[in-house]
Amino acid sequence: MPRIKTRVLIIDDDPKVHELLQATLPSFEFITAQNGIEGIQKVTTDKPELVLLDIKMPGMSGLEVLEKLNKQPQRPEVVMISGHGDTDYVVQSIKLGAAEFITKPFQVKEVEIHLNKILEGVRLRSENRELKSEVAAQKGFTAFVGDSAPMQRVKAIIDQVADSELTVLIRGESGTGKEIVARSLHELSRRREKPFVKVNCAAIPRDLLEAELFGYEKGAFTGAHKQKQGRFEVADKGTMFLDEIGDMPLELQSKLLQVLEQQEFVRVGGVNNISVDVRIICATNRNLEAAIKEQQFRDDLFYRLNEITLFLPPLRDRSEDIPLLAAHFAEKYARQYEKDDSPLDKQTLERLMRFHWPGNVRQLENMIKQVVVRGDEQIVNELISAAAAGPRPTGIASLEDDPNEPPLDNTYSLKKRIARMTAREERRVIAEVLQKTNWNRRKAADLLEISYRSLLYKIKDYDLNATE
Ligand SMILES: Nc1ncnc2c1ncn2[C@@H]1O[C@H](COP(=O)(O)OP(=O)(O)OP(=O)(O)O)[C@@H](O)[C@H]1O
Ligand SMILES: [Mg+2]
Repeated sequence: MPRIKTRVLIIDDDPKVHELLQATLPSFEFITAQNGIEGIQKVTTDKPELVLLDIKMPGMSGLEVLEKLNKQPQRPEVVMISGHGDTDYVVQSIKLGAAEFITKPFQVKEVEIHLNKILEGVRLRSENRELKSEVAAQKGFTAFVGDSAPMQRVKAIIDQVADSELTVLIRGESGTGKEIVARSLHELSRRREKPFVKVNCAAIPRDLLEAELFGYEKGAFTGAHKQKQGRFEVADKGTMFLDEIGDMPLELQSKLLQVLEQQEFVRVGGVNNISVDVRIICATNRNLEAAIKEQQFRDDLFYRLNEITLFLPPLRDRSEDIPLLAAHFAEKYARQYEKDDSPLDKQTLERLMRFHWPGNVRQLENMIKQVVVRGDEQIVNELISAAAAGPRPTGIASLEDDPNEPPLDNTYSLKKRIARMTAREERRVIAEVLQKTNWNRRKAADLLEISYRSLLYKIKDYDLNATE
């Protein structure tokens, strides 16, 4: 439970300070210590957010107390209380890291302002720390697996551009590895020790996205009780990964363009420009060219983001990578769940290679995870059949989701729903073309612009037959 009142420890042999503050500043909880030793103890036991420390005390002086507190792994902020003529001590205490000093006799209002200012700083720093540790936790570097020709090209481009300041736009279907590529670009750049900050533009409500990215000033809107740093400030000197950039509202696109061009922006409700040094990487699986035509996406921003474009091919177009990926995930989950890491047999691998993976690498990863956890690779067949079928449409005409139908796997997961729609659409188009060509598979493959072999696999996986 967070404390309701901020706890302040007063270390002062003069009880009047305590009495005065306690009586006039009810929004704080004041506790006291009469001398340095007791004070140091109470810092540990009572965990105050802030310490008011008298410089002159009998026994241990305020400066000595401060030196001792500095030896602790963490200490609260310290405000020194000094009398007139203590200038030398004041200088020393600032050198020792005191946040402020107050001269006796003081005005209560003055104390209140100092306390609030320091606490605000403490809060901002702790928010920053939280963000940074979240960022570090996300970092856990993942191997980027794939040896097929398209993936070799992707890797070559990553190597060429990672350590440049170029803005990279990563495109590809859902689950193809866009995020893992963005992280690799960061890890291979000279910014690797600095934050990698990810913002998913589609996941944050559009009204909040501006404040999230650029921060806000106190009073900028209802509820903005204090100033807040935006993600761009957190990402300073590091990399900002703007995921699902195609979903960024038009109003914010011009502000982003300004960051790209001038490396500066204004917080919501602010007037001053804030400068940042951030490298930007974006990803999307939307058709940005179409969005530009529909005036949903600014073309000037598109050209600016698009200094380098990396296309990640869908998994079905690089099935050679499937055995490698499957082995990689099998090892990863065997380690994680302390299971045996026995290799998948040939038939299972062939089945995996034939499947069309509408959910791409993510779907493969999930499947292998289930195989490892359940310790039975036979379930691959089961899982693939279920994935291929989805709730199988009754005929080729049933294209749309039936709004009355319960959601797939009782989930509203957009990815799963879209994967199902993609599979249905794929099945529908193939069936239509097969009908049109009188089941001439070569002609159908030409029209579909896929290889003859992959058409045969799809016919099998989708269970298509001439009676449909
Ligand atoms: N080449 C790869 N090697 C190893 N793991 C991969 C590879 N590609 C993708 N993955 C794994 O697959 C999962 C999905 O990848 P990622 O999140 O990068 O996809 P995405 O393209 O960002 O998808 P979405 O558009 O749905 O956000 C992740 O767990 C990722 O680690
Ligand atoms: Mg992603």
